[in-house]
Amino acid sequence: MAETQRTFAIIKPDAVANKSAGQIIARIEESGLDIIALKRLQLDDDMAQGFYAVHKERPFFGDLVKFMTSGPVVAMALEGENAIARWRDLMGPTNSTEAPAGTLRGDFGTDIERNAVHGSDAPETAKLEISYWFNASEIQALVEALP
Ligand code: RTP
Ligand code: MG
Repeated sequence: MAETQRTFAIIKPDAVANKSAGQIIARIEESGLDIIALKRLQLDDDMAQGFYAVHKERPFFGDLVKFMTSGPVVAMALEGENAIARWRDLMGPTNSTEAPAGTLRGDFGTDIERNAVHGSDAPETAKLEISYWFNASEIQALVEALP
């Protein structure tokens, strides 16, 4: 059954640097998802390490933090029916070399790390991630009752 959800999205430093952010935002709007919060910012080590804390024991953690702090990102909260799965479908699989053409990672990413975009993987992580990046005053929700 369709359920209105929010999810958290990042246009990563690779895609911002090569000026793909506008095309990625256009894909979001064309998909029907609503952008209910948006900002461009430069992450520092603390914020990147905190955001990716779930991966801190993984061998790629150091590289990931270095990549995510290598330049500005664009962070967004998205809202719509089944927003979490729809945004992950638009992104495509993690590894850009395996992501089909027509997906954001296939079209704008480079490899398994430099993969253009991030998306939350579940309702609980979406809620945590949105509140990690945005104050309530920065979100103009369409469905006020959502957590
Ligand atoms: P994301 O969290 O960014 O939406 O990506 P994801 O769920 O598809 O992938 P996840 O397993 O959560 O990994 C987070 C990010 O870490 C980088 N990564 N590098 N070198 C590697 O083997 C490797 N594996 C993952 C990617 O930037 C990935 O999006
Ligand atoms: Mg993930």
